[in-house]
Amino acid sequence: MYDFTTPIDRTGTGSIKIDFAPEPVKGSGLVPLTIADQEFAVAPEIRAAVKEAADRGIFGYTYADEAYKKAVFGWMRTRHNWECSDYNLITTTGVVPALSLAVAAYTQPGDGVVIQPPVYMQFAHAININSRRIVENRLINNNGHYEMDFEDLEEKTKPDDVKLMLLCSPHNPVGRVWTREELKELGEICKKNNVLVIADEIHNDLLLDGAEHTVFASIPGMAENCVTCTAVSKTFNLAGLGCSNIIVKNDDIAKKLKEINGRFGSGLVPYFSRAATIAAYTKCSGWVDELNAAVGSNFRTLYDFVEKNLPMIKAIRAEGTYLAWLDMRALGLDNESLEKHMLANGLALDEGYVFGENGGGFERWNLALPKEQLLSALDRLKKAVDALL
Ligand SMILES: Cc1ncc(COP(=O)(O)O)c(C=O)c1O
Repeated sequence: MYDFTTPIDRTGTGSIKIDFAPEPVKGSGLVPLTIADQEFAVAPEIRAAVKEAADRGIFGYTYADEAYKKAVFGWMRTRHNWECSDYNLITTTGVVPALSLAVAAYTQPGDGVVIQPPVYMQFAHAININSRRIVENRLINNNGHYEMDFEDLEEKTKPDDVKLMLLCSPHNPVGRVWTREELKELGEICKKNNVLVIADEIHNDLLLDGAEHTVFASIPGMAENCVTCTAVSKTFNLAGLGCSNIIVKNDDIAKKLKEINGRFGSGLVPYFSRAATIAAYTKCSGWVDELNAAVGSNFRTLYDFVEKNLPMIKAIRAEGTYLAWLDMRALGLDNESLEKHMLANGLALDEGYVFGENGGGFERWNLALPKEQLLSALDRLKKAVDALL
């Protein structure tokens, strides 16, 4: 049994979430429920591997060697039923840089790149900073269950200058774990219209209540038309180690990625990240199961609390990730007022509108935290809502 209950003080570590928290919340006795890292301690097996690496005494330049690749491909095989050991593996300092890299590699300025808002804000950012054009294929909120709009996707991917799609699977922030059928339909539309799919599967291990993640590239016929982005960062709470993996079958696609990646001198694996990744992917399967159980229990606590005490707020039922998506539109506040009101009541949350226009009036909650902290956040939420009545 691992420990998912003891709070850990992160002040003074440079943590974005803690040390750069907005003023009314900083030092208020409750962590922000914002940026997606966890308030849980890293698995002891990973900490031991990092300590052992430190004790070697030299932290030199490191590449993705056979031991590293074996660990990554082994995890994909055993945990995700995906055999990719003869694929290309390219390392970057994160999935966000990988997305930007893919946009730069496969599109020209002005080309269209499809995203499915509400979606992780860095998707739009990767398109904007590369001077490409955002093409929105908005998700449909069907009475609290988000679905893809395939008719719209068919239309949006038809123009010749739409070259790429950034797929979020599982989806941040709406918590969907897309089914094989949904992914297949999306893949077929993209293939037919010559749109390459960049599958951001960083949340692939974070599955609730028996949900099953389908690796997009594992669907027959899709591997040649996609790039898979994964990392240990989200699953194992290692975001500060700056390391992620791009897995690609198609050698031409891989060549282009490597070329652009190389222009910025990257392609290394940070020394400690190598040690941590190998330990995570070879020794910590059980830790992930317990993490998912702890997060699942937090989701149930949130659903029960909201249903009982705040029925005007609708908590979207998540199938994956540790991010809850709360529909607060019934409170009748505009985006700015909602943010201010929550902050004034000691709650730092991620504002729905940053994930796209159709995220307005929603708030994203990070539930990777000890239950005691969640209960205190829910208490603050009730006070915030009561103050409006
Ligand atoms: C869908 C998605 N992609 C990427 C990231 C961040 O990736 P990285 O820290 O590896 O750049 C996040 C973080 O929340 C995310 O939700």
